[in-house]
Amino acid sequence: MADRSFAIRTFGCQMNVHDSDKLANLLLHAGYAAGEPETADVLVVNTCSIREKAEHKLYSDLGMLRQWKAERPGRLIGVGGCVAQQEGDALLARFPQVDFVFGTHNLRHVPAMLRSAEAGQRRADVATTASLDRFDLPERHPHFPDATPGRAFLTVMEGCDMFCTFCIVPTTRGREVSRPADAIVREAERLAARGVIEVVLLGQTVNAYGRHDLRRGTSETAGTLRFASLLERLAAIPGLRRIRYTSPHPIFFDDELVQAHGAIEALCPHVHLPVQSGSDAVLARMRRRYAADAIRSLADRLRAARPDLVLTTDLIVGFPGESDADFDATLALVREVGFVDGFSFKYSPRPGTAAASLGDAVPEAAAQERLEALQALLRAQTLAYHRSRVGREAEVLIEGRGRRDRQVTGRDAWHRIVHLDAAAFPEARPGALVPVRIAEATPHSLLGDPARPAHVPLSGFPSGAVANRR
Ligand code: 5AD
Ligand code: SF4
Repeated sequence: MADRSFAIRTFGCQMNVHDSDKLANLLLHAGYAAGEPETADVLVVNTCSIREKAEHKLYSDLGMLRQWKAERPGRLIGVGGCVAQQEGDALLARFPQVDFVFGTHNLRHVPAMLRSAEAGQRRADVATTASLDRFDLPERHPHFPDATPGRAFLTVMEGCDMFCTFCIVPTTRGREVSRPADAIVREAERLAARGVIEVVLLGQTVNAYGRHDLRRGTSETAGTLRFASLLERLAAIPGLRRIRYTSPHPIFFDDELVQAHGAIEALCPHVHLPVQSGSDAVLARMRRRYAADAIRSLADRLRAARPDLVLTTDLIVGFPGESDADFDATLALVREVGFVDGFSFKYSPRPGTAAASLGDAVPEAAAQERLEALQALLRAQTLAYHRSRVGREAEVLIEGRGRRDRQVTGRDAWHRIVHLDAAAFPEARPGALVPVRIAEATPHSLLGDPARPAHVPLSGFPSGAVANRR
């Protein structure tokens, strides 16, 4: 009989995407085959609860999956991720079509839970743990379908102890845990050995890596380092040409980390820096622990270290009590820092968070209007930045085919999407690093031509091209 096959549907952040990859690898090792949702025997939904909309997607999905399950006897449905962590047994009770539920700390138990489900036992496992065992995962299976050869995620820490008042993540992902540096470096060496060029270091507050050990004086026993020292160790691995990290918290940029952006060549000149708001009053109610001016000076420090650095961000509009003046302060910060791009969201109250009980809700229409104004500003800044890149050189790490025929696509060091004409770049296979000259700017991406043979320095274009400040 052919292997039973699985498919995984993923919602939410990069941590979830990476968890789904880890789970796929575990299931391959357990003897299942990777398949498509239409034909699979097992479907796992990896869920997100960061905003209400994301959570609702699970519920509408589960409705459709009832039909999917009825189409063939023996089909099974598993639910994991942040909604699973919060709801646990309640999901089993509410949705008879769900066979097993696993929390964010329990990926490793899924193969066993699946076997039990096949024997007719429905289970939820959402136990949390402070242990590092959850990072002990098997080597990559030879049949692992690699969506992005050339680039890989690498978890350095997990969990969040910040408890920003709007955010459910500290509940769903648990306490901050940092992996020992040696384990991270070993994993990075394995990635480099199989041809990975770019690693993306992951953590909910990635630059808080090791901070608790540092404070307690237990770094040595825990095997952690300062984040900047970890970056240095990773940069020394032959073959790793690009290092990124996501998402940092603004308060954990110490001088070493800022200086690393000038000193470590492999560290990409792009930082995704979630700032959430530009109003000090709102930031305080969000419990973000910084003022808007701290973001301005952080941007200056980073650009002093690396003049061509690109900053992108996350922003929330319509947080309780946000006035027109507060929102204007957000627009001003976005302009002055010159964010090249950003994700912006309407505030979504999450049950169980501190902000959920705040009064003074912003009316939906006002929040929508602010969201649109903010997105218009971000779009304008993206385009202005893209235009500043025309004529400059870059290296593009190829990811795959573009949306248009005969195009390949990838990202440059500044994390911008660059499309290339496949015919002009016969060497542009997924995972290859290709030199280009930027020929054209569009609102969402850049177009690259073959680089001129004469060498033009990669950096040196005007920094902060869209910053209006000073
Ligand atoms: N409502 C809206 N946006 C949120 N985010 C986190 N929690 C909420 C919420 N309750 C946003 C923040 C964060 C990003 C991942 O999601 O901007 O940086
Ligand atoms: Fe959520 Fe704040 Fe933690 Fe980020 S730092 S995951 S926004 S609580």
